[in-house]
Amino acid sequence: MATDDYQALQQAVRQRLGLDLSHYKREQMERRLRAYAQQHGYGGLDGLAQALGHEQPLGEELLSYLTIHVSEFFRDPDFFTRLRELVGTLPRTEALRVWSAGCSIGAEAYSLAMLLFEERGPAMAHILATDIDDKSLERAKAGVYREDELKKVDPGRLHRYFSEEGAQFRVREDLKRLITFRHHDLLRDPYPEQQDLILFRNVAIYFTEAAKTQVLQGFAHALAPHGLLMVGATEAILRPQEVGLRQVRPFFFARA
Ligand SMILES: C[S@@+](CC[C@H](N)C(=O)[O-])C[C@H]1O[C@@H](n2cnc3c(N)ncnc32)[C@H](O)[C@@H]1O
Repeated sequence: MATDDYQALQQAVRQRLGLDLSHYKREQMERRLRAYAQQHGYGGLDGLAQALGHEQPLGEELLSYLTIHVSEFFRDPDFFTRLRELVGTLPRTEALRVWSAGCSIGAEAYSLAMLLFEERGPAMAHILATDIDDKSLERAKAGVYREDELKKVDPGRLHRYFSEEGAQFRVREDLKRLITFRHHDLLRDPYPEQQDLILFRNVAIYFTEAAKTQVLQGFAHALAPHGLLMVGATEAILRPQEVGLRQVRPFFFARA
């Protein structure tokens, strides 16, 4: 079978960046890659594949371009209201193990940290926040945000958890201490275990159905027996039992 230019680039991306594009919907990825190749003077996908072999910074930039990072604090506030109610049902004996999977610039993890700080106290949660994109993780670790990213943070929290730096806001250390940011590819790397809470929101939008199934099965194993998986509207799970999950509330799932 002849290899088309998308397949050739897919191979170059896998070798050079370790990103397996076969898990992502081809139509969207191909459209983005062709636009990128054109805008940056590589002509087409062949030119881009060749350049990937020898242009060091291109790899990082391309990975960042391919993954979508839009995020904000308390995105979809209703989710956080429901989450607050459910956190109250989790055991109180030990610090909660929480995972923000596909955390982008960290806004979701810091929002979670505020909520858990208030519900459980400072020492009662360890949040692991992971993403495949190192540029986003750098921003997450720095913890410095623009006002527009913080528009859903109420003034009380803004004052309590951030210090103002000119036009930006820096997350305070006591909140930061709850979170470990780490590089992790959901389609490749092993998952942590015994998680009390996993957030998986606005990440699977470009995943193929097979990739989504693989990730959801991974989450089912990663959950503690009483643990909860919370998904976003783009991660709708139509047949939870087929991936080892059962729905407990809209957008919340437990191990089957
Ligand atoms: C739109 S952001 C969502 C951020 C946050 N969860 C929210 O809802 O605001 C999607 C993130 O998923 C990450 N992502 C995409 N594919 C991934 C993969 N295979 N493993 C880990 N993260 C991935 C992207 O790098 C991006 O930062």
